[in-house]
Amino acid sequence: MRKRAAVLISGRGSNMAALLAAAADPAYPVSVALVLSNRADAAGLARAAAAGVPTAVVESRAFRGDREAFERAVEAELARRGVELVALAGFMRVLTPGFVSRWEGRLVNVHPSLLPAFPGLDTHARALAAGVRLHGCTVHLVSAGVDEGPILAQAAVPVLDTDTADTLAARVLEQEHALYPAALAWLASGKVRLENGRARVEDAGAPRGAALLNPLPPLLPVNKPPA
Ligand code: GAR
Repeated sequence: MRKRAAVLISGRGSNMAALLAAAADPAYPVSVALVLSNRADAAGLARAAAAGVPTAVVESRAFRGDREAFERAVEAELARRGVELVALAGFMRVLTPGFVSRWEGRLVNVHPSLLPAFPGLDTHARALAAGVRLHGCTVHLVSAGVDEGPILAQAAVPVLDTDTADTLAARVLEQEHALYPAALAWLASGKVRLENGRARVEDAGAPRGAALLNPLPPLLPVNKPPA
């Protein structure tokens, strides 16, 4: 049986669209039972509706800072659709410890940095300011801290000298779209085990490429492969 997931969004919804595209394959172990936004103006809502997926809006602003009441309204929508897994995809609200513990092990997030580096906002500008040469994205189970929890998968990209926050964001986002559907599938099909607060993924497949070096050192004469 496919696991019924809700995708929670606040805006554009490109990661949501990547999850919907994966779930369009009947062999994918997750079906998207609901796309829920905390903002009525989230562009992703129209994309979900166009794909024939049920949508709901629970306006966080209407709850005037009462996070528990907001989450009760969200959970009523999740219950109505029989949701078993929750995937945060650009959902820009911090969830309470109560919500996080009720969904423990069934709540995942994608974050645009190689956690634990750069939790929070403006990750790409902060990566550029820090001068890191590798940046990327993380899919993780959610625990009580912001952008914290056992890491399921990460993808790294090079940071180029010519990058702006926008060009770097686009390079990372492409990886988010590949990584998130894969990581959600591992979780849904029972391949994730937790050991001492760390996640292990069974049969995840060998990583492509041995290492990502940036900048790439020139081949020294002694290292050159034989002609
Ligand atoms: C994505 O880059 C996602 O990683 C990030 O917001 C963007 C949403 O884009 N999430 C966070 O920063 C959460 N801490 P999308 O709406 O097109 O998927």
